[in-house]
Amino acid sequence: MTRWAESSDFQERLTAVADATERMLESLLSSTPLPGETARPARFMEAMRYASLGGGKRLRPFLMVETARLFGVEGEGVLRAAAALEMIHCYSLVHDDLPALDNDDLRRGRPTTHKAYDEATAILVGDGLLTYAFDVTADPATHPDPAVRAALVLALARHAGIGGMVGGQVLDIEAEISTTPHQAEDVIRLQSMKTGALLHYAVVAGAMFAQADEAATKAISRYGHAIGAAFQVADDILDVEADEVALGKKAGKDADRNKATLVAALGLEGARQRRDRLADEAIAALDTIPQGAHAEILKEAARFAVERKS
Ligand code: IPE
Ligand code: IPE
Ligand code: MG
Ligand code: MG
Ligand code: MG
Repeated sequence: MTRWAESSDFQERLTAVADATERMLESLLSSTPLPGETARPARFMEAMRYASLGGGKRLRPFLMVETARLFGVEGEGVLRAAAALEMIHCYSLVHDDLPALDNDDLRRGRPTTHKAYDEATAILVGDGLLTYAFDVTADPATHPDPAVRAALVLALARHAGIGGMVGGQVLDIEAEISTTPHQAEDVIRLQSMKTGALLHYAVVAGAMFAQADEAATKAISRYGHAIGAAFQVADDILDVEADEVALGKKAGKDADRNKATLVAALGLEGARQRRDRLADEAIAALDTIPQGAHAEILKEAARFAVERKS
């Protein structure tokens, strides 16, 4: 199999989708109020744009766009749904970095939103991005079928909320003050929520968008769970192995804070083995569907999730 680093097609697609996502976010975050809105406060919109534009790998939008494409759908609508997911991701980062959570000063190579603005603004930027993501997903411009839009809204809420990303963040913060060693099974569950959920939504939403059949949706769901888990183990390993310049965020912070990582639970070598096994699992899941032969780009995305340097 082609390694992602050697595949110009993968990198070109990743860049193309990242650029398209950036343009979509720029247009959605314009200063002009939408029908039904009264005004968009100027400094707040600047902070919303600061938190969501000009950085990030845009892996979640990429996974959604490429999954929909695998099942035959492309266009503005899926880009809107993908930009909405990226808004949720950006909000999760803004809040993750707050002093009350991870207390980080650097994100995507720049001061975190609460440092560039202030804490109140950062909290409200998160609130704004979260709410707007549902606005964009529910808008008829996203998908012509209201049943598909409603299903996307519901799935996004389930993945981003109490039993998904937010719940995972709760467990992450609770685990910091634990006085007993972090157990792998607890960390795996926590990570499937805090990080896995949004990555899983990316691919199932792509399948929902294209109204893929049940067997394909199940396979893509298995892929999503595996890549989601692999992605966070890679993040835990990068915290140990990479430096601040490469990461664009502080390195070596997890051990200092007693974070429940898979490096803490399994050791560095154990975490590496699990990461690589999960990438193989993600790829194997795609081989079970008829479209699998055309899923090379998603297979490379699984490799990218674990071989990335930032
Ligand atoms: C960082 O996510 C937070 C985690 C879930 C580990 P990414 O590594 O996708 O961050 P960006 O969007 O590329 O900055
Ligand atoms: C962040 O996990 C997960 C979410 C933002 C939901 P981390 O706290 O490990 O992410 P980084 O390392 O700060 O990017
Ligand atoms: Mg965190
Ligand atoms: Mg953090
Ligand atoms: Mg981390």
